[in-house]
Amino acid sequence: MVFREKIWEIAKNKQTNIVLALDLPFEKPANRQPLYERAAKIIDAASPHICAVKINHHLTLPLGVFNGVQKLIEKAHEKGLLTIMDCKVNDIGDTNRVIAEYYFEAGFDALTANPFVGWEEGLKPVFETAKTRRKGIILLVYMSHKGASEGYGQTVMDAESGRKTPQYMVFAKKALEWDADGVVVGATYPEKIREVPAFLGEKIPIYSPGISVQGGEIELALKAGASYLIVGRAVTLAENPADTAEKIKNIAWGFLAKRR
Ligand code: XMP
Repeated sequence: MVFREKIWEIAKNKQTNIVLALDLPFEKPANRQPLYERAAKIIDAASPHICAVKINHHLTLPLGVFNGVQKLIEKAHEKGLLTIMDCKVNDIGDTNRVIAEYYFEAGFDALTANPFVGWEEGLKPVFETAKTRRKGIILLVYMSHKGASEGYGQTVMDAESGRKTPQYMVFAKKALEWDADGVVVGATYPEKIREVPAFLGEKIPIYSPGISVQGGEIELALKAGASYLIVGRAVTLAENPADTAEKIKNIAWGFLAKRR
């Protein structure tokens, strides 16, 4: 099974389309052990209500990929969850391949990549590495922050059609051509989520971050066409991460079930 099939299998079985962004605030590196323990506790608490864990530099920098983070990956896998590294790969091809090899070697099931870097000598080696190892690549199509309009939102001349097209629609088309396992479109822009499936059809799921703290709404993102919600601080900083994750899951799965 490829990544997009694996994650959907888990989501269906557990009735949850929530990807936990395991982000915690800055800690002095000397506090890496308590940071690791806090992250591990959140996986334990949230695991019944999520289908995957997304890890960011919040943890790879202080804990190390082949130290604390690898232990968190193992924990997530033991709980039946998939793991995504949100590294937004964005360099020349050779460098990108090495980045991807290390994250996959550490046990990550998928990683995020930035299509701005292009295919030849850009993301092609990352997709090749992922296919060989049966791992997933999730492409950024429209990010959740305000400044996203300056890059992902600009109007460009689509080289294939020769027509003026929004940059994010060109990226959505590339996701299909490159056989990505998912695309990221911010929950803060439901109108953009709505446009993207025109290119993606049913095949490539939309992952939507930006719920709650960034202002995105569960219902609007899912009604617009998102398949998975990426939720971070709303859960990781909650007084009771398990209860909060469960509440978000119940609302989100309810909307998804109605849509399908
Ligand atoms: P919060 O705390 O806002 O965390 O729920 C969201 C998580 O998702 C990441 N993020 C993004 N990742 N494209 C991405 O690939 C995006 O547009 C985007 N917006 C947020 C963020 O870094 C955090 O881990």
